[in-house]
Amino acid sequence: MGKSGFKKLSLPPLHLPFFKRQTLSLGLDIGSHAVKLCELAETAEGYQLVALGSALLPPDSLEDGALHDPVAVGKVITSLISNLNIKHKKVAISISGYSVIVKKINLAVMTEEELEKHIESEAEQYIPFDIADVYLDFHDLKTNTATENRTDVMLVAAKREVVDGYLDMLRTAGLQPVVVDVDAFALENAFEASYGLADNVVLVDIGASKMNINIISHGASILARDVVLGSRQLTEQIENLFGIGFAEAEALKTGEMVSEEKREELAGLFANTCSQWVTEVKRALDFYYANHPDEKIAKIVLSGGGAKIQGLPDFFAKETDIAVEIFSPFKQAAVDGRIIDPAYLKSIAPEMALAAGLATRPVEV
Ligand SMILES: Nc1ncnc2c1ncn2[C@@H]1O[C@H](COP(=O)(O)OP(=O)(O)OP(=O)(O)O)[C@@H](O)[C@H]1O
Ligand SMILES: [Mg+2]
Repeated sequence: MGKSGFKKLSLPPLHLPFFKRQTLSLGLDIGSHAVKLCELAETAEGYQLVALGSALLPPDSLEDGALHDPVAVGKVITSLISNLNIKHKKVAISISGYSVIVKKINLAVMTEEELEKHIESEAEQYIPFDIADVYLDFHDLKTNTATENRTDVMLVAAKREVVDGYLDMLRTAGLQPVVVDVDAFALENAFEASYGLADNVVLVDIGASKMNINIISHGASILARDVVLGSRQLTEQIENLFGIGFAEAEALKTGEMVSEEKREELAGLFANTCSQWVTEVKRALDFYYANHPDEKIAKIVLSGGGAKIQGLPDFFAKETDIAVEIFSPFKQAAVDGRIIDPAYLKSIAPEMALAAGLATRPVEV
């Protein structure tokens, strides 16, 4: 494959605390249920939350992480940006699902240039896609030691067709995409912006149609897994059980609507779904402990709209025997309560984790 075929995606920056730039990209998380947007500014005291909002997408706008209806999604994004009065055009998005593969490979230590050449010519042996069809990127984790002249390298391959679908949609909406990240990495960035270096934590994002499980040890992702389970499954079960429509089922699920006579049956559905979710997390934990028996997981941090089910943290804690908390992505950020309503911020915060992580990405100047 020629040089022209190699296009770089952007991976999270290295941890260089002294290398601060002024401008940050807009964080845009295009989920299957809603688009979430976050703008941060970097000040001498840390991050400041400038703007925040979300807007629902029509059903079936996305499919397996790929855009299914770019026109509808573009319209929702344009009106969200205009409602929030955002003038900034540079956006960071992230992708996940079948179209992206993240793989850790172990290689002899090389310079950045040698590494690029090596990956360009050898990628085919690491990933199951045709190399002509993907964007490739890599990140040297620099795990080499004085005695071991090899290093782990994180390799990312993303289907061009899917990435280009997002880029075209954003450009048509008048935006300038500057970063394409991977969901799991964006979540990790959000965690570090709020909690510091991630050490032996499990990040679990439960969205509408997928959950992402990411185990991080000493600041590096040990396991990142997407599972096709989410909060929409609950809505569908509620629709089927009571023969009602989507909107009513959503309202019953989120607690916006209360029905005493349906309470018991709803509790049964919730328990069943939450058990499925925790089973997936336990599976990931088993895998982790098989390889790292002495490195105890310190906590599980839940994000995404699905994490807002009442009692979910306690249920996870009981089932895993690990401390559980809800992701608070703006813990360290300065927030002006006159611009962003504190009650809204509190209720939307768990869904905003990914957008917050994307909003920490510096814009190249
Ligand atoms: N209180 C609540 N209890 C249960 N589910 C909730 C609650 N509030 C919101 N949700 C659900 O969370 C989902 C939306 O969460 P989120 O915005 O994280 O998903 P998404 O990012 O659009 O989806 P995905 O990441 O799967 O593509 C919806 O299914 C919504 O019904
Ligand atoms: Mg999501």
